[in-house]
Amino acid sequence: MSAVRVLFVGDIMGSPGRRAAGKLLADLRSRLDCHFVIVNGENAAGGLGITKPTAHDLFAAGADVITLGNHTFAKRAVAAYLAEEPRVLRPANYPPGAPGSGWGIYEATSGEIIGVVSLMGRTFMNPIDCPFRCADAVLDEIGGRAKVIIVDMHAEATSEKIAMGWHLDGRVSAVIGTHTHVQTSDERVLPNGTAYVTDIGMTGVVDSVLGLIPAAVINRFLTQVPGKFELAEGRVCLHAALIEVDADTGRASSIERVEQGEEL
Ligand SMILES: [Fe+2]
Ligand SMILES: [Fe+2]
Repeated sequence: MSAVRVLFVGDIMGSPGRRAAGKLLADLRSRLDCHFVIVNGENAAGGLGITKPTAHDLFAAGADVITLGNHTFAKRAVAAYLAEEPRVLRPANYPPGAPGSGWGIYEATSGEIIGVVSLMGRTFMNPIDCPFRCADAVLDEIGGRAKVIIVDMHAEATSEKIAMGWHLDGRVSAVIGTHTHVQTSDERVLPNGTAYVTDIGMTGVVDSVLGLIPAAVINRFLTQVPGKFELAEGRVCLHAALIEVDADTGRASSIERVEQGEEL
């Protein structure tokens, strides 16, 4: 068996998250012997969305592909960037006509071909096309072009994410949950060989509410008055999952949670 090792890094929260990626990712990549790195970058630019320079920071830090989510189009200039950069994926189930692509085929450093698919849930989120039917259609399009396929399921509801894991079990190598920024402890390989975790967490400031300064978030809960949310500052941490896949069959053999703090 030739094993491909893929690291999937949780949502990068603004400049502290980019700093964490810059400090920690290259070392993790070599220490964990990774052949391919996927990073969720939907919060890379100031906590909301992504820009060309912030995406370049993540590529320079060691990302091979960047996936996005519900904040994809928060920065207006991203539409043109998505059209020119095939390594940045927005959710595939945006309605027809949205700029950019929701999946792509890439090459790992080991030479294996890897398909990456970005999907977004629609339970407690903005209305978007059905991620389940979209996943079926994308897998039809990928066809035999990639045996190793990694899916980012960017969603709020745990049930929708788990259901996607089972929906794709045996058809993709991994379904990796993002968006809620809190790492869950349910990582496992499903019976037909798909690695699954409900959420891999975030890359950003540890003492925060999902990467933001707590006071403004608390005030919003106390008063229901929208206030300005600001990125927290301080000690950062990188959350990820490491997936090992048999490149001949596309089946995952293991998934492990990764948590790396800058002071460790
Ligand atoms: Fe999100
Ligand atoms: Fe996020």
